[in-house]
Amino acid sequence: MLRVLDGRRVSVPPVWLMRQAGRYLPEYRALREKAGGFLDLCLTPELAAEATLQPVRRFGFDAAILFSDILIVPLAMGRSLRFTEGEGPRLAPLTDAAALASVSAHADVSVFERVYETVQRVKAVLGPHTTFIGFCGAPWTVATYMVAGQGSTDQALPRAVAAREPRAFQHLVDCLVDVSVEYLAGQLQAGVEVVQIFDTWAGSLSGAEFERWCIAPTRRLVAALRRRCPRAKVIGFPRGAGRNLPRYVRETGVDAVSLDSEIDRDFARHQVQPLVPVQGNVDPRVLVAGGEALDRDVDDLLARLAQGPLIVNLGHGILPETPIAHVERMLKRVRG
Ligand code: CP3
Repeated sequence: MLRVLDGRRVSVPPVWLMRQAGRYLPEYRALREKAGGFLDLCLTPELAAEATLQPVRRFGFDAAILFSDILIVPLAMGRSLRFTEGEGPRLAPLTDAAALASVSAHADVSVFERVYETVQRVKAVLGPHTTFIGFCGAPWTVATYMVAGQGSTDQALPRAVAAREPRAFQHLVDCLVDVSVEYLAGQLQAGVEVVQIFDTWAGSLSGAEFERWCIAPTRRLVAALRRRCPRAKVIGFPRGAGRNLPRYVRETGVDAVSLDSEIDRDFARHQVQPLVPVQGNVDPRVLVAGGEALDRDVDDLLARLAQGPLIVNLGHGILPETPIAHVERMLKRVRG
């Protein structure tokens, strides 16, 4: 995987899956039961290290991704956070200028130190051929959860707040850039080799909004991280960016980009892969379907993108209902 991130093509592309540790695995469900809550699992280094390693042990993926969550950053910034069964995350919302102005770039390092301990524990036992990936949410995506207090499909409220209170929203985004630089640098110092920036809701931004809230903060984050950790490899994942992808790559300075399942593979091949290595982009629903539909999609991905630097992955996180046999089938299809 590191060779691919250096821009080289390898004969069998490396494979890992977003959300590869999760509810589709019986051993994850057992561990989660033992931990109690999802946040307890994230913040207990021994258990989070075990969750990180489970999918690597079972499937022999080429990379391990740190088991944690993008919302650990607002938690460390002092925002209340809980995960309720079947509902997803809930935070105290930030909907007026005064609330936004009250946010600071101060983070409780004791929260991050638990994550760094997870990294050290995984690093100590990970084989030399498995790449270790850390991550954070992009400032825009994390801000959407902090403003609305929960996830939403169209980010209408965060977009309205950003439009109505641009200075106060900018302050929130700036704080997130600073804290995320600190957090990623800490993960790299603890032992991850690559970091991925998840901008799950980049696709709800258009035109000037995309420039201001997706590209500009990511560019600042990447530049500041490079000053701290010059050898760090950074993968960007601006989900839903569509035709903005080449611009995102050129203007943020990421080393590689993760493709969602909606992007046209020939567009990616001609307009994105000449700039940076690409990662992706099997549709998680096709992985749930399995069978020949899965084989056809993997073959199509390899035919269109494996002539250049490619990391095989999904276009978004693996779904909880995914059969384990389908993951095995996908790996076999890629590795031959
Ligand atoms: O990829 C991995 O295996 C590493 C761990 C990881 C998780 N979340 C674990 C998790 C990573 C990289 C994330 C990123 C994340 N978290 C994103 C960006 C990527 C994406 O999927 O779009 C976002 C938006 C979040 C916020 C979040 N966390 C939501 C909205 C939810 C609820 C939805 C759901 O699937 O339940 C979570 C919970 C979460 N994060 C789970 C896992 C394994 C499920 C928790 C459980 O065990 O019940």
